[in-house]
Amino acid sequence: MTYRKLIVGNWKMNLLAGEGLALAGAVAAGAADRVCDIGIAPPAVLLREAAGVLAANRKGQSAVLLGGQDCHSAVSGAHTGDISAEMLKDAGCAFVICGHSERRQDHGESDGLVRSKALAAHRAGLMAIVCVGETEAERDAGKADKVILKQLNNSLPDWIEPSNFVIAYEPIWAIGTGRTPSLAEIGDMHGKIRGWRAALAGGEGFRILYGGSVKPGNAREILALEEVGGALVGGASLKAADFLGICGACG
Ligand code: PGA
Repeated sequence: MTYRKLIVGNWKMNLLAGEGLALAGAVAAGAADRVCDIGIAPPAVLLREAAGVLAANRKGQSAVLLGGQDCHSAVSGAHTGDISAEMLKDAGCAFVICGHSERRQDHGESDGLVRSKALAAHRAGLMAIVCVGETEAERDAGKADKVILKQLNNSLPDWIEPSNFVIAYEPIWAIGTGRTPSLAEIGDMHGKIRGWRAALAGGEGFRILYGGSVKPGNAREILALEEVGGALVGGASLKAADFLGICGACG
């Protein structure tokens, strides 16, 4: 393995400032000497303050990366309620999550729109974490591979670089449900995603995260899979002990 695993906490629409900033501080303090890279994606209104808290609580070399949960594809303009990748960068972010299934479902985001957001992230100098995942009906119908391949082809720019792009495989039926695919299923899909990537531009050093009901109790076995380059964590990222427990399962 030529890269460090990456564990990202996606807080979604949770936590007010008091709790959120306390959590950011606890993650920064607990991140010292971890063998993985760690990131958190708080709600947008907390980003700038969270950047300060992460810097103030940083221990040694272990900087916790800050990220946005979404961005608009344009630099600026008349887009009420939206936030550009440049604004995220300006607030202290290093990455942005693009095309999470909740954005695809709640806001009708198409593969093409996700691709334009990933390109915007690159333009702004942010790492894009692009999410793909199948529904339960698609998996049951034996269509998971086809669905993921289509999402990969249409949601990601052709020239993705390991330093700029991370893919997160998140089966929609595993998100927030407590259910996960078998280890064999996770390994199989990650291998196929790596194969897709390798055919495009070489698979070396490319991180593919698994997301969907990752918790301290299952993180070690999932993260031990060679093809799994880290985890995108929702519910279990809202408690410092759980999230740091998952980070600790990396090494
Ligand atoms: P979960 O969410 O860990 O709560 O299942 C994962 C995600 O949506 O990224």
